[in-house]
Amino acid sequence: MSQVNNWQIGRKMEYRYDEARPKRQFAAVFNPNRCIACQTCTMACKSTWTFSKGQEYMWWNNVETKPFGGYPHSWDSKLLSYMGEQEWDAGAASADKPYGEFKGKTIFEAAKSKETAAGYIPSDDQWNAPNIGEDTANKAIHLEDGVAQDWAELPQHKIWFFYLARICNHCTYPACLSACPRAAIYKRPQDGIVVQDQTRCRGYRYCVRECPYKKPMYNGNTRVTEKCIGCYPRVEDDWVTRCISACVGKIRLQGWIDNEKSPIYFLVKKEQVALPLYPQWGTEPNVYYIPPRWVPFSYLNQMFGPGVEKAVEKITKPSHELLGLLQLFGVTQKIIHSYEVDEKNAVAFDENGKEIIRVENNPELVGRDEAACKNVT
Ligand code: SF4
Ligand code: SF4
Ligand code: SF4
Ligand code: F3S
Repeated sequence: MSQVNNWQIGRKMEYRYDEARPKRQFAAVFNPNRCIACQTCTMACKSTWTFSKGQEYMWWNNVETKPFGGYPHSWDSKLLSYMGEQEWDAGAASADKPYGEFKGKTIFEAAKSKETAAGYIPSDDQWNAPNIGEDTANKAIHLEDGVAQDWAELPQHKIWFFYLARICNHCTYPACLSACPRAAIYKRPQDGIVVQDQTRCRGYRYCVRECPYKKPMYNGNTRVTEKCIGCYPRVEDDWVTRCISACVGKIRLQGWIDNEKSPIYFLVKKEQVALPLYPQWGTEPNVYYIPPRWVPFSYLNQMFGPGVEKAVEKITKPSHELLGLLQLFGVTQKIIHSYEVDEKNAVAFDENGKEIIRVENNPELVGRDEAACKNVT
């Protein structure tokens, strides 16, 4: 085991291999505040990559309704209960530890002998219903004398649900990769996309067991496992992935997390409005989420770590720069490498500094004031 640095948990941790960061890291920000669960992303991925025999149950992109939905069913609650209560020291936050320090065990540190990470293989019936729990709230409206109670309390609702869109997180420390005894999974040094070599795979399914996000999926016909490939042929040509380009709600923005000029860098590292999914598990996932504003913090803290309160504050009263970037979600199929937000516009540039698209961001022209801003995120 090596000791590697994980900035999301604010400390070093154990991992099977040495730290080896790619030249640049594929990353995306998803904004569940805008997602309408239309599943266009899901179908865009399926119709591109997983339409063959043996791939029927493979939904590399899925959109689940929280708190009860999940694909496979209970993928996160099962691991959360196994790992037990976990503690953060949010007070230890600093520039290079934005969420403080995680005091509990990552899945790698909780591994039993013969495992590289704590995990489980979902049962067949847990893969059967990809959209179980759709549109189901945490509880039903309670009636007293025929009058509904508890249904519209602000800012955190007592009755709530939200849509969580998920793809492989192309983790910096992939548990799928460390699990494989055949070294059939690797992280591309040029872009950090995690892919699998199907000619090396022998269908052992340790990757299925140890990926905490349950994104590798076994093909019973070919007897090898498959997973999201980050649409690397598109990324190589500077196009965003299929699921990101097809998104109707414009909830997704793709870029490079380690480029200080990238909108992703601003949203995650500078503004800290977008947070990793279950950072405490230790894989350093590279898909980030702007937390849904109406959901109780107790739930969101478990899912996105201690940065939630700050992120919700930022998204509720967005700065001019943040508002500008929110206008750039979903407006171009090209990867945005850098941006500018001025008085009136938000402008996106490609790798060579050439303008890709310009959208209006003038509060006067679009009639925004501070109160109105609360409704545009
Ligand atoms: Fe591997 Fe899972 Fe991370 Fe994807 S989300 S890179 S499958 S550990
Ligand atoms: Fe599918 Fe590509 Fe999206 Fe991965 S990145 S879920 S392969 S569309
Ligand atoms: Fe949500 Fe976009 Fe997918 Fe529709 S296409 S379900 S809005 S992420
Ligand atoms: Fe390895 Fe997973 Fe195949 S553990 S052998 S990539 S099924």
